[in-house]
Amino acid sequence: MTAINPVTDLSMDGDIAVITLNSPPVNALSANVREGLFEGFKAATADPAVKAIVLICEGRTFIAGADITEFGGASRGPSLFDVQGMMENAPKPVIAAIHGTALGGGLEVALVAHYRIAVPSARLGLPEVNLGLLPGAGGTQRLPRVAGPEKALEMMTSGRHAPASEALAMGLVDELAEEGKLREAAVAFARRCVTENRPLVKVRDNNTKVEAARGKPEIFEAFRKANARKFRGFLAPEYNIRCIEAAVNLPFDEGLAVERKLFGELVTGSQSAAQRYSFFAERQAQKVPDVPDDTPLIPVKSVGIIGAGTMGGGIAMNFANVGIAVTLIEVQKEALERGLKVIRSNYERTASRGGITAAQVEERMALITGSLDMNALATVDLVIEAVFERMDVKKEIFTKLDAICKPGAILATNTSGLNIDEIASVTKRPEAVIGLHFFSPANVMKLLEIVRADHTSKSVIATSMKLAKQIGKIAALVGVCPGFVGNRILGQRQREAQKLVMEGAMPWDVDRVLYDFGFPMGPFAMSDLAGLDIGWVKERSQGESIRDVLCEMDRRGQKTGAGYYDYDENRNAKPSPVTEKIINDFIVKTGSNPRTVSDEEILERCIYPMINEGVKILEEGKAIRSSDVDVVWQNGYGWPVYRGGPMWYGDQIGAAKVLEKMKEFQAKMGDDFKPAPLLEKLVAEGKKFSDL
Ligand code: CAA
Repeated sequence: MTAINPVTDLSMDGDIAVITLNSPPVNALSANVREGLFEGFKAATADPAVKAIVLICEGRTFIAGADITEFGGASRGPSLFDVQGMMENAPKPVIAAIHGTALGGGLEVALVAHYRIAVPSARLGLPEVNLGLLPGAGGTQRLPRVAGPEKALEMMTSGRHAPASEALAMGLVDELAEEGKLREAAVAFARRCVTENRPLVKVRDNNTKVEAARGKPEIFEAFRKANARKFRGFLAPEYNIRCIEAAVNLPFDEGLAVERKLFGELVTGSQSAAQRYSFFAERQAQKVPDVPDDTPLIPVKSVGIIGAGTMGGGIAMNFANVGIAVTLIEVQKEALERGLKVIRSNYERTASRGGITAAQVEERMALITGSLDMNALATVDLVIEAVFERMDVKKEIFTKLDAICKPGAILATNTSGLNIDEIASVTKRPEAVIGLHFFSPANVMKLLEIVRADHTSKSVIATSMKLAKQIGKIAALVGVCPGFVGNRILGQRQREAQKLVMEGAMPWDVDRVLYDFGFPMGPFAMSDLAGLDIGWVKERSQGESIRDVLCEMDRRGQKTGAGYYDYDENRNAKPSPVTEKIINDFIVKTGSNPRTVSDEEILERCIYPMINEGVKILEEGKAIRSSDVDVVWQNGYGWPVYRGGPMWYGDQIGAAKVLEKMKEFQAKMGDDFKPAPLLEKLVAEGKKFSDL
């Protein structure tokens, strides 16, 4: 074996050269890896004893893409194009042997091999769109040539990782190897290429599939139209589509030039910067400075959930999806049966869309057992309480859990803002108590706010973080304070939205501005969707707020056909003259004068107090780092990914400008806008939010 460089070896298996990359964690295409590939292929190509070349990787995966950390820096060593040229033009067969994931630049490397072989567990994709990018090393021109433009459109704009079996069916992979025997299979495949004198297939020359789509612009128009809502606000999906159009309509090298140009625009733009930041922010959020990687974990093989409502049922699905047994507790038999029925119908809906098989529906349902007796939780490893938000009820439940659950079990509450230290105080094991705050619908929403109370043990924290990943959630660790990180910041926006309406803006004005900013919906549309009567008590309602009046009129949101908006039978919203009158009457009643509120003011008043609250949260140590605040807001509250999150966005505006505006609003409208002391300090020291 010859070491080409610290991350690359070249060895011989008879007359087959095997180039092995080993650059943990994911063999990303750093300068070192590119150099190793370039020099390795150069040496193997030049050696007359070598008849074919296999490229394989050590560790958990094949090449998982360009090294994202290198973007924006000066480029060193051979470029990826140099490497690809060396491989594609090699005068002997080149075989890429794939395990783990071949993603982005990794798949683009595989696509210049003459053949690809993969183990069944491998996944292949071009996920650049999720980083606000497009594949910049020929992937946009080669994937449509292999898989056809329709498939390429779907894969490149979703970033989906296709399983090896699908890759085989679409021709992206030539053969599957037995799991664990990739190297042997790849060498044998290479030998067959030599003995059978197989052609050196260059994907770039294979025009059949792209030519078939030439002169059919409707393919692209239909795709754009069908996905308009999903792509709204994002640049990268459209740029990916344009590259595939170029693949269809232009010769390879001209298509490549289009790809280069559009890649250059994206990689230097603000959206991709935000999306790349988010990629690392999510991973950073998994790291807790005082909870080391080797903290002992508590095995979680069974989970109990108290409350079979929408939340409890959604939480249960997360665990059943990954094969963890769930005991679902309710007080009333009817409520339990209803809850189980809802879970089943959710699974059946997924199955009807092809997401899972009918057998998987049954497997998952079989993992969920309903019970009316809390004693059924005596043996579970983790309990999550998901009942309504009343401290007395939660305390009663935790007192019982303390008596019932086995020693070492984790006792979690799904509270969205109550004091977890107070809940923990009724138990004799506060170290076992933690907040696991799921977001509704809990089987869909990505965020898990993990709330660390005063006495929560490190093992309980480490286990919760690990479990979050296992069930496909993005976790952020936060501290106990009213509303935690997410709802506490939301409170700022909701308050200003309500105030703006009392000053003369209409709910649909506020919603439009926030929708245009990139949120999936504004606060009033959101209230209509959730139901205006959440937390509203008819007997106590005295028409003291716009919401009270709307609920009293039975305008309780979408479910009653009217709320802030009027809805037609398809739930399309229209501004409501009724709501407008209620608001105007209210304004008159309070003796204030309505004024014209600009869109700029709406945006600044909704967003800047959120940023300020984020700073306060960091000041109080309730979040570990500013990017954790962004992770919460992106994944739990629909903050547009291409704007990074409130703290990232704050840095784009500049902390000084945020402070100046907060002071201006404070002078006019009072202490709702009082700047956090840390914001003042930050500006005085010329620092950024990301420094926090
Ligand atoms: N560049 C640099 N670092 C990367 C990386 C990349 N492309 N991909 C992953 N990493 C790092 C992560 O930051 C993480 O580092 P820490 O341990 O220090 O936090 C580590 O590798 C492990 O990553 P994950 O925690 O995500 O591990 P996982 O096993 O859950 O997932 C993965 C592995 C599926 C490969 C996932 O990391 C992933 O999706 N990576 C990004 C893939 C991607 O987008 N590739 C395209 C890059 S852009 C490109 O290639 C442009 C082009 O056309 C040339």
